[in-house]
Amino acid sequence: MKQLFSEAEAVTSWLDTYFQAHHAQAARLQQAMAYSALNGGKRLRGCLVMAAARLASAITQHNMNKQAAYSVAGAVEMLHAYSLIHDDLPAMDDAELRRGKPAAHIQFDEATAILAGDSLQTEAFSILASLPSLDADASIQLVRVLAHASGVHGMAGGQMLDLQAEERQLDASEIRQMQELKTGALINASVQMGGIVGGADKTILHAFHTYSDAIGYAFQIADDLLDVSADAQQLGKPVGRDAEQNKASIVRLSGYEKAHQTAQDLVCQAKAALAPFGEDAAELNALADYIIERKN
Ligand code: IPE
Ligand code: IPE
Ligand code: MG
Ligand code: MG
Ligand code: MG
Repeated sequence: MKQLFSEAEAVTSWLDTYFQAHHAQAARLQQAMAYSALNGGKRLRGCLVMAAARLASAITQHNMNKQAAYSVAGAVEMLHAYSLIHDDLPAMDDAELRRGKPAAHIQFDEATAILAGDSLQTEAFSILASLPSLDADASIQLVRVLAHASGVHGMAGGQMLDLQAEERQLDASEIRQMQELKTGALINASVQMGGIVGGADKTILHAFHTYSDAIGYAFQIADDLLDVSADAQQLGKPVGRDAEQNKASIVRLSGYEKAHQTAQDLVCQAKAALAPFGEDAAELNALADYIIERKN
């Protein structure tokens, strides 16, 4: 567990340095971006990038390109921060609290929050396209993976389905499809991107894919369970809103206990996919456990 948290801190410090070093003319926009990217957060996606890069490097027996890995982790966390800003907007989940602090549109205003989300997103791609220590093919691959995971075929598409589902009950397979896009895609991309930095071949990336598909869904189930069982202070965001807003989830469809069991089964599936890599997979396995054991 120690390694995970030290990487979370290292990713935060990478982001901090990035914002210190890049000054924009639109100071207020820059402030809103930094506020949203640096205001806490578990850094799960960043840690997944680092752990996947480390594992792929161990398997392929290369020295890990740490500089590129931290940049990719930072870019993924920026993309994620953008998704949270927009998710909290009044037109979406209308949530006032994020990471224990006022949501960006409350701390600043709605227009600034929208622009901060837009700019965090484009900044993420700009970082991936300017990695000096990585060859151009790998950079293009990273851009492609993140773009696919973020837009209509990924997170944004899933957010659309999530909003539409407020009007209609989904069945279990529709819920899984929606969650795979909304949350799973970016988690999947984080692991793939770490793999790419670590020089993973197709076989390794395939195993990573199986692992991250399972943890991606387990992660959103855990999020939906916490919306029922946690308190707002512990969680750092409003609780009980999913029921209020009629959100589709497996917790709502099958009940708390069954959903919890499903999440545990998914974590077992995830670990099984990494079994061929033995002890080298310990960090990714620990992240899988953390996903369902977390309290926020
Ligand atoms: C929250 O993600 C949004 C979902 C996809 C459920 P996290 O729980 O990873 O949020 P932070 O980054 O730790 O705040
Ligand atoms: C949001 O899911 C997933 C995103 C793409 C941001 P939720 O709406 O459940 O996330 P929280 O609970 O607000 O963090
Ligand atoms: Mg939402
Ligand atoms: Mg939300
Ligand atoms: Mg939620």
